[in-house]
Amino acid sequence: MNLTATNHRIPLSDGNSIPVIGLGTYSDPRPTGKGPTYKAVKMAIDEGYRHFDGAYLYHNEHEVGEAIREKIAEGKVKREEIFYCGKLWATDHTPEMVRPALERTLKVLQLDYVDLYIIEIPMAFKPGKEFYPKDENGQWLYHKTDLCATWEVECHPYFTQPKLLKFCQQHDIVVVAYSPLGTCRNPMWVNVSSPSLLKDDLLNSLGKKHNKTAAQIGLRFNIQRGVVVIPKSFNLKRIKENFQIFDFSLTEEEMKDIETLNKNVRFVELLMWKNHPEYPFYDEY
Ligand code: A2P
Repeated sequence: MNLTATNHRIPLSDGNSIPVIGLGTYSDPRPTGKGPTYKAVKMAIDEGYRHFDGAYLYHNEHEVGEAIREKIAEGKVKREEIFYCGKLWATDHTPEMVRPALERTLKVLQLDYVDLYIIEIPMAFKPGKEFYPKDENGQWLYHKTDLCATWEVECHPYFTQPKLLKFCQQHDIVVVAYSPLGTCRNPMWVNVSSPSLLKDDLLNSLGKKHNKTAAQIGLRFNIQRGVVVIPKSFNLKRIKENFQIFDFSLTEEEMKDIETLNKNVRFVELLMWKNHPEYPFYDEY
């Protein structure tokens, strides 16, 4: 597949397509005003990004929607050129809550539709206003649902997911890699004792060879094997940098060398919820 900055959509079996790189918009989940997300999304559209990964949980979905709507109004993009992925949070897993949750997202975005709506984590929490419900003793309040697990996949050179990827490719399923740069290493939810992906020697030396950064090599590795990436950045320099991955390619040998970096290191372990009956990471994928 010849991926370019203006033509990098991967066809999906239902006739739709998904841009191979999207801007991640996860940020500190506190209510924000017109702030960094709004600016980052507008800058990203100017750079050529057409895919945005957001969620009601992030408290900034209104900014993503506003930025997209403004760019549409300016004539820079059309709605059908944008791919927006929204997410159902763990407190809304009860089947009758799914539709209202999606409708709330549409209302916040002020858009007519989302292109993809996924289950954020396959573990249900007690329904209610609290996103992270706990009892009076500080114990998590879980909830039982009949969940047919739908799961996005962490994927990067330290966690290359060969078995899962092979299965998905055989069944025409496109994989979207969250945390493709190895996360922001927030100790609240990331195992920070794991090695830092962007400091990796091989990624940095390949970066020098191609006149790219370790981040660009890691992203290129995934898109070159058909995996969609959604690196998060609210910094203009890095938003640009992460999109400049269409003007070079890795040789077959370099791809193989990067594959050998796999350490089965999962950065997002969500260990605080490891006693949830549906905790997903005990299973092999
Ligand atoms: P920032 O928003 O300041 O750019 P992931 O997508 O794997 O979750 O990683 C996101 C983290 O990586 C964020 O902390 C983001 O910070 C940082 N980041 C994004 N792009 C790059 C890059 N090209 N080089 C280094 N760090 C980056």
